[in-house]
Amino acid sequence: MSSVVRTLEGARVLVGVGGGIAAYKTAHLVRGLVAAGADVRVLPTASSLEFVGAATWEALSHHPVRTSVFEDVDEVAHVRVGQDADLVVIAPATADLLARLRIGRADDLLTASLLVTRAPVLVAPAMHTEMWEHPSTRENVQVLRERGVSVLEPAVGRLTGPDSGPGRLPEPDALLEAAHAAIAAPRDAHGAVRRDLAGRQLLISAGGTREPLDPVRFLANHSSGRQGWALAHAALVRGATVRLAAANVELETPPGARRLDAGSAAELAAVIAEHSSEVDALIMAAAVADFTAADRSESKIKKDDGDEDSVPALALRRTEDILRTSVQRRGQEARPVIIGFAAETGGEGRSSLELAREKARRKGADLLVFNDVSGDVFGGADNAVRILDGRGEEIAESAGSKIAVAHAVLDELAGRFADVSWTP
Ligand code: CTP
Repeated sequence: MSSVVRTLEGARVLVGVGGGIAAYKTAHLVRGLVAAGADVRVLPTASSLEFVGAATWEALSHHPVRTSVFEDVDEVAHVRVGQDADLVVIAPATADLLARLRIGRADDLLTASLLVTRAPVLVAPAMHTEMWEHPSTRENVQVLRERGVSVLEPAVGRLTGPDSGPGRLPEPDALLEAAHAAIAAPRDAHGAVRRDLAGRQLLISAGGTREPLDPVRFLANHSSGRQGWALAHAALVRGATVRLAAANVELETPPGARRLDAGSAAELAAVIAEHSSEVDALIMAAAVADFTAADRSESKIKKDDGDEDSVPALALRRTEDILRTSVQRRGQEARPVIIGFAAETGGEGRSSLELAREKARRKGADLLVFNDVSGDVFGGADNAVRILDGRGEEIAESAGSKIAVAHAVLDELAGRFADVSWTP
């Protein structure tokens, strides 16, 4: 058996397309997968070809497209494509396709391939709200999830007709990120994504706060929100329920995450205070401003045209240290598990690691994920971190994509949950 492929670069990805109008979005997903370096094979169901034709899939994937087990019989395509895959993504999955997957039908090339594969399977359903909410579909989704299939929640919004509700196919960028998360996830003995966070509630903060100075200006930082987003995607494929406290993030919401927007440090503090007692883990990946304007000006701060040298004096005050107050608030109980991030550059004769170790001891979080931000890490796809425990001892490290780093952090969290001394 081939070794486990953990990134989309060089991965063989099988994309199954069900018969729904949302198939047009899958064309963008296939482009994204190919751009990420994946070798993509598209398997459309016969009915999906009514929406998007084989020529589109062949042009985007650079491979011929078959739908029947009776084409190229000498190559036994239904066995080979499934066996070869490092990841399977089905988008859109119709109610009918979910039902066929659940009972293990093999009546076309896609479903036959799915019985053969031992790769992680990511399914993105799209259908009318009534179909999604029907007890049959609910049960099919539940059974598939219990079997280790990563079934994404559909997005909520306008559907094909005048109706609106849950049932939309998530946007291609969000599907691509979910595919990154699925291929990098730890696996069970059958090759499926390990659902070691099933039943766990996570609250993740992401992005960077903005502290208003006047109606048009604010103090901000370089955080893009990508690391927090990666944590959310990674946690969702591992079965967690995710609330995402988002500070000024312009990324597609991960399918299934409950997004709680918070612009400033004070707003973020309020969201965390409201939700942290209801979750099993709090992960503070947001870059929170340490200072905010002492007095926000109600009108735009003007420059003095008569005096070229005059600048306004900006009075600042400290913001709440959300991580520290969250640790204090939980008192003697170990719930939620609290994970902080530390961005350090080092300086004044102190290494960044020394400063991070001190911060780990000072903040009192269970884990501190430390990254050296001396280089240019903001907004990029990659990161390199060391994970420290509450005493400042290094317990793990991870370098690579932000998704890989996210999984490394979640491995430690899952370890805490598995620890018998930790009682929810
Ligand atoms: N953090 C927080 N509230 C703040 C500032 C930071 O909850 N007002 C959290 C961040 O989300 C992160 C951790 O504290 O998880 C460390 O953030 P960092 O900016 O590295 O540390 P600071 O406490 O701000 O310390 P300093 O800027 O002095 O290094």
